[in-house]
Amino acid sequence: MTMHEPHAPSAETAAKSHADKATYEAMYRASTQDPAAFWAKEGKRIDWIEPFTKVKDASFDLGNVSIKWFEDGVLNVCANCVDRHLATRADQTAIIWEPDDPEGETQHISYAELHEKVCRFANVLLSQGVMRGDRVVIYLPMIPEAAYAMLACARIGAIHSVVFAGFSPDALANRINDSEAKLVITADTAPRGGKRTALKSNTDAALLHCSDKVRCLVVKHTGDQITWIDGRDVDVKAMMETVAPDCPVRPMKAEDPLFILYTSGSTGKPKGVVHSSGGYLVYASMTHQYVFDYHDGDIYWCAADVGWVTGHSYILYGPLANGATTLMFEGVPTWPDASRLWQIVEKHKVNQFYTAPTAIRALMGKGESFVEGHDLSSLRVLGTVGEPINPEAWEWYDRVIGKHRCPISDTWWQTETGGHMITPLPGATATKPGSATLPFFGVVPAILEPEKGTLLEETVTEGVLCIAESWPGQMRTIWGDHQRFEETYFQQYKGYYFSGDGCRRDEDGYYWITGRVDDVLNVSGHRLGTAEVESALVAHPDVAEAAVVGYPHEVKGQGIYAYVTVMNGVEATDALRKDLEAWVRKEIGPIAKPDLIQWAPGLPKTRSGKIMRRILRKIAENDYGSLGDTSTLAEPEVVESLIENRMNR
Ligand code: WTA
Repeated sequence: MTMHEPHAPSAETAAKSHADKATYEAMYRASTQDPAAFWAKEGKRIDWIEPFTKVKDASFDLGNVSIKWFEDGVLNVCANCVDRHLATRADQTAIIWEPDDPEGETQHISYAELHEKVCRFANVLLSQGVMRGDRVVIYLPMIPEAAYAMLACARIGAIHSVVFAGFSPDALANRINDSEAKLVITADTAPRGGKRTALKSNTDAALLHCSDKVRCLVVKHTGDQITWIDGRDVDVKAMMETVAPDCPVRPMKAEDPLFILYTSGSTGKPKGVVHSSGGYLVYASMTHQYVFDYHDGDIYWCAADVGWVTGHSYILYGPLANGATTLMFEGVPTWPDASRLWQIVEKHKVNQFYTAPTAIRALMGKGESFVEGHDLSSLRVLGTVGEPINPEAWEWYDRVIGKHRCPISDTWWQTETGGHMITPLPGATATKPGSATLPFFGVVPAILEPEKGTLLEETVTEGVLCIAESWPGQMRTIWGDHQRFEETYFQQYKGYYFSGDGCRRDEDGYYWITGRVDDVLNVSGHRLGTAEVESALVAHPDVAEAAVVGYPHEVKGQGIYAYVTVMNGVEATDALRKDLEAWVRKEIGPIAKPDLIQWAPGLPKTRSGKIMRRILRKIAENDYGSLGDTSTLAEPEVVESLIENRMNR
């Protein structure tokens, strides 16, 4: 099979799956012709305490953006993910937990056990005065308690906001403060790749910048020594033993927020993306079932972190709503060596495996010997998410991991979308390496001309990717700033949701995501605003000015390239470079550390003082031969010196 020929699902795969090509086409047509009827039916895939009678009420009109699904329905998300399975699968494993240390003890948590743990956790939250609508920040590693904590919040109607355990104390403090959280949940320390992150001491540092009313629940996970503040800190595990093993679920309205998740945009501070209860769960459940062709009894593994939206929708809510066995892995793909993931697949006979292109590329670089000798015959479907996957990585995934047997779902979606938007379905869609292929049910993509905002109607075209109609998993607002929500997503292209991504459509109507068109970086599948890294750099006393751009990076997809102008009288040394790297790690977290720092005596600016990022991007890409029009530059000679001293050659 050549690289450009579509990989069609086998007749056998198609026959056994939830949707073959004809089913997909018929369902897609139905979903766009009569969305209310389509989603009224799908809405019933979850249990409602009071059934909905209204299905969809959405407006993308600027000044009046409002998105509501299943508005008058009443439900509880935790009851849907846990309680409703007790009658039929109480003894089935809900969560398989695989620790960082391969010698450590694997846990199999049944639905009955999950129910008790979540109830106890919820009772601990209640004992701390957490009420419906209160915000709870969760700063935990990939341990079962992270799942208990999230589900416990859902059970009592509290809104969780998970902060990735790789974020710094400052980033944590900002999120606690922006969400006005009542409580933060953390662990003593977090083992990852044989190293330990001091989460509790990070939390202590963060809380110095927060209201002294914020309480701190601590999961003693490793038993490492930590400082303890009496009256503020609570030992969760000890307290779970003393509270009741049962806790009633609180009936919630479909539109009550389930969680806030902070994500980077092109400007300003990270924004708190707010997701709903009803629409979000329906969408997470349906996409999980169709995109991974999930069937009862499958062992499903999403190797993301619960700190990202992928972990929310596809480790926790989607799989558990469907009564799946979901695997949670505490460690990293390359420790103790690059065979770890395949050992786990073999050990637990994983059927669906979902990861990011950056992990595939990293493992590809280590060689196939780490895969050989592991029985991967249980695998049926492979998934990828987070950034465009390059065809080489796609082919490797297909050949070395999938043995040409497993359809690959390249899923395009965003924190904002709640679930998959453009993606193949394993039994329905012929795949092309590098293309996210076709829209999911109910998703109406639109490619617009970037400048004029006109709809590009020809099949073969390229422009910015927008979505024309609401879908149930769509974010509802930015926490505390609905106006910013409207401005960010609905202002530039009237009547559409603007994704921030560029996109091409080919002769088969397949979508090819070309990457962000704004100042958002995608480093190892993690979103970062260039503005965030810049503001961290200029907060350093020796830095006068900084500009940050992305450049192609073999493993990470994009690397971080920083141009830094030092203060008058400061010497630009290698020691300062190291210091700045450490500084950014401290301000934001290790994922934001610049890969390359170039000392810039000046930055190329227009006469009105705007930094010309286009030029900086070109130089960072080592593609300085085609800088385009530089006639508007205030000091053209700056560019010459930047080219001369470029770091990426
Ligand atoms: C990018 C992650 C190409 C895209 C779920 C998007 C992708 C951003 C893909 C969202 C894909 C995600 N192909 N690009 N399959 N999946 N992206 O919010 O630029 O962390 O806008 O959500 O990742 O990142 P986020």
